[in-house]
Amino acid sequence: LPPALIDRFGRHVTYVRLSVTDRCDLRCVYCMAEDMTFLPRAQVLTLEELARLGRCFTELGVTKLRVTGGEPLVRRDVMTLFRSLGTLDGLKELTLTTNGTQLPRFADGLKAAGVDRINISLDSLDPERFKRITRLGELDKVLAGIEAARAAGIRRIKLNSVVLKNRNHDEVADLVGFALERGLDISFIEEMPLGVIGDHDRAEAFYPSDAIRADLARHYELIPTTESTGGPSRYWRVAGSDTRIGFISPHSHSFCGSCNRVRVTAEGRLLLCLGQEYSTDLRRVLRANPLDDEPVKRAIVNAMAIKPRGHDFDLEAKPVIFRHMNATGG
Ligand code: GTP
Ligand code: 5AD
Ligand code: SF4
Repeated sequence: LPPALIDRFGRHVTYVRLSVTDRCDLRCVYCMAEDMTFLPRAQVLTLEELARLGRCFTELGVTKLRVTGGEPLVRRDVMTLFRSLGTLDGLKELTLTTNGTQLPRFADGLKAAGVDRINISLDSLDPERFKRITRLGELDKVLAGIEAARAAGIRRIKLNSVVLKNRNHDEVADLVGFALERGLDISFIEEMPLGVIGDHDRAEAFYPSDAIRADLARHYELIPTTESTGGPSRYWRVAGSDTRIGFISPHSHSFCGSCNRVRVTAEGRLLLCLGQEYSTDLRRVLRANPLDDEPVKRAIVNAMAIKPRGHDFDLEAKPVIFRHMNATGG
């Protein structure tokens, strides 16, 4: 087998996002419908299967693993997975994306397992708005989670804000202020059309990254950088601070040309692009070969041939991707 994962377009896959559950304790309007049916447990990869995949990927040259969900920290015993991924040879970064509600319980354990960066979703600093966006969320719990991650000594914390017109677009400067006071990074995300969500109109809620940057420039001096965290964010630095402001702009600035990542869904589908359905069923290969990683690695290598050039999201059209974000891990 080749020692590296390279697709048809010459892109080198070094970053894998592992979704460990489709469940979540929140119901963010851009991510889930209000009433969701979750996967039966037998269809979800076991923690042992996830650890095996982590090993296969790192043996194929992957250096960055991000644990996602749903909400990864609602998966029972998920810390055993972090501890085992933390020991993998060749891994440069073990990280997660979380809504933050469970961090008071888990931040110390994550740090001990070797997690030194965390991305935490935070869309509003107003408790009423926060509740309207997350449907079930309590802002205080997330703020306590952010403090817990800081207290645990996690080296770099990045906030993720999905910006929606007329819901939180007027808060971007306050969110940056919050990040600045605490020495955090923050990324602003353009919503992506995954799954049908009854009463939420995505075209109407669209707020482009350039408008956010113009809003911020009235409050802060922003210095463009070429820094990267290995994901799709383009970063600006707030002058005189450590804080980086990232923009994830699938609609207004295409980043697919430098895509370095693939994802594994909670049911073990290797998904080659967030915005397309090309995938390989790794669960079947894992379960058919309980003692031999070679067929699993071969399936991963072969999948590189079907990694598409990029997404073709269209906010004006009906969603063509029917899975919701929670099934994919963002
Ligand atoms: P860093 O390591 O901090 O760069 O993380 P990241 O931005 O890769 O990960 P995170 O989980 O914080 O994701 C932030 C947003 O970027 C989410 O909305 C993801 O869905 C989105 N995102 C990450 N990778 C891709 C991608 O390949 N395509 C698209 N369209 N969106 C992506
Ligand atoms: N579009 C863009 N970002 C989304 N997220 C969830 N659903 C969507 C969507 N439809 C974000 C979450 C989290 C990250 C993993 O993805 O807010 O920060
Ligand atoms: Fe849960 Fe994250 Fe989806 Fe919100 S965006 S419902 S926190 S998985």
